[in-house]
Amino acid sequence: MKYSALKGIQDVLPPDIEIWQHIESTAQKMFHLYGFQEIRIPIIESTEIFTRSIGLDTDIVEKEMYTFSDKAGRSVTLRPEGTAPAVRCFVEHHLHNNPSPQKFFYRGPMFRYERPQKGRFRQFYQIGAEAFGVSFPSLDAEIIMLLKKLFEKIGLDELNFELNSIGCEKCRQFYKSALMTFLKDKLPDFCPDCQRRYHLNPLRILDCKVDECKSLQEGTPVVTEYLCGDCKEHFEDLLSRLKIFKIPYTLNPNLVRGLDYYTRTTFEVTSEHLGAQKAVAAGGRYDRLVEEFSGPQVPAIGFAIGMERLVALIKDKIVSRPSAPKVFIATLGKSAETEGFRIAEDLREAGYWIEVNYGGASLKSQLRKADRLGAEFTFIIGDDELKAGKIKWKNLRTGTEGVTELRGGLSVIDDSSAQLDDWPE
Ligand code: HAM
Repeated sequence: MKYSALKGIQDVLPPDIEIWQHIESTAQKMFHLYGFQEIRIPIIESTEIFTRSIGLDTDIVEKEMYTFSDKAGRSVTLRPEGTAPAVRCFVEHHLHNNPSPQKFFYRGPMFRYERPQKGRFRQFYQIGAEAFGVSFPSLDAEIIMLLKKLFEKIGLDELNFELNSIGCEKCRQFYKSALMTFLKDKLPDFCPDCQRRYHLNPLRILDCKVDECKSLQEGTPVVTEYLCGDCKEHFEDLLSRLKIFKIPYTLNPNLVRGLDYYTRTTFEVTSEHLGAQKAVAAGGRYDRLVEEFSGPQVPAIGFAIGMERLVALIKDKIVSRPSAPKVFIATLGKSAETEGFRIAEDLREAGYWIEVNYGGASLKSQLRKADRLGAEFTFIIGDDELKAGKIKWKNLRTGTEGVTELRGGLSVIDDSSAQLDDWPE
């Protein structure tokens, strides 16, 4: 029986994993600078966590959740996103009692039963950030600034920041009725989902992925023209801050996002190099969600980066860490093998990747293995070398060779190229 991973679910292997680790460690450093602390939230939650927050008539809740009953008959769901679990965690642990803002980040797999295609998977990874407790647009600006800096540090600067404000509950009522009036006559031409959502949640029509529906949306009223005074002021303040900090953006009035919890600011970071699934990160404000989870009135804003899409964008751009050992220590005989292990430990202590002979193989096959692994050096220790207290060494890249003291291996390799920590910044 041959097994393979499920459709839309993939393994991450070397050398790609090095890019993942590079992104994760860069993100961690950046989050630290902006005061975000890591939280580890569960992969599985009560289904209601998602249905209540993301919204019943969204694609995610209607079609895409991995929901099943556990052995006690409770409905549980593999998390399709991290914001709702983060809010559940925030409320459950009374984190609002700590000084505001409370800023958190998380990373890990999310699950959505979508039709797999380029950049769209059923298990995908996000790095997410959520900041609680500040309603001022200065926090919105800081979040966007952090995201931009993070992408720059990772090596990406040609991204578009698309921005919108979908207002608060009050002004959205006016927008909804303008939208419904506009769409009324065209409704029979929309897909069945849009027709059904027209009465339930008309904003969802703007988020429909069906091509015909997208073209029918042309000329729809623009949400930002229906903002109330406070929401308008909030959005304008944000935009002026982005201008001051020279963060280019484009306004996208159709950016309503596929989740119902958003209020005011919404944004997506897109790239033309990603094809149809062009958002590499997305987020927005959700000032009501903490309350909806029976917490106090705490405003919040956050984003999530799609790891697979980010990796696809930077794969060709970054120089990967050396993916070959520094030294292969070839040994002949048990005593030499033990000495080889001891030398290997010393060199690893100094930060080098060392491979050893685990026993049995002839010198010829050990040297062949060193070559296949792409080792930079071979050290050879046999009976004669042991007796003389020496190592024979060869630099396989330059062809230079020599003999050194048993404990002298470090000086041979020390002045040649990269150590494990030498990532390009
Ligand atoms: P989202 O837009 O659903 O937002 O997802 C954020 C990012 O995750 C997307 O921009 C994309 O890069 C990636 N992504 C989403 N679905 C898939 C998929 N099927 N395959 C590959 N990548 C995918 C959220 O999840 C919100 N929780 C973001 C947020 C945080 N809002 C506020 N705080």
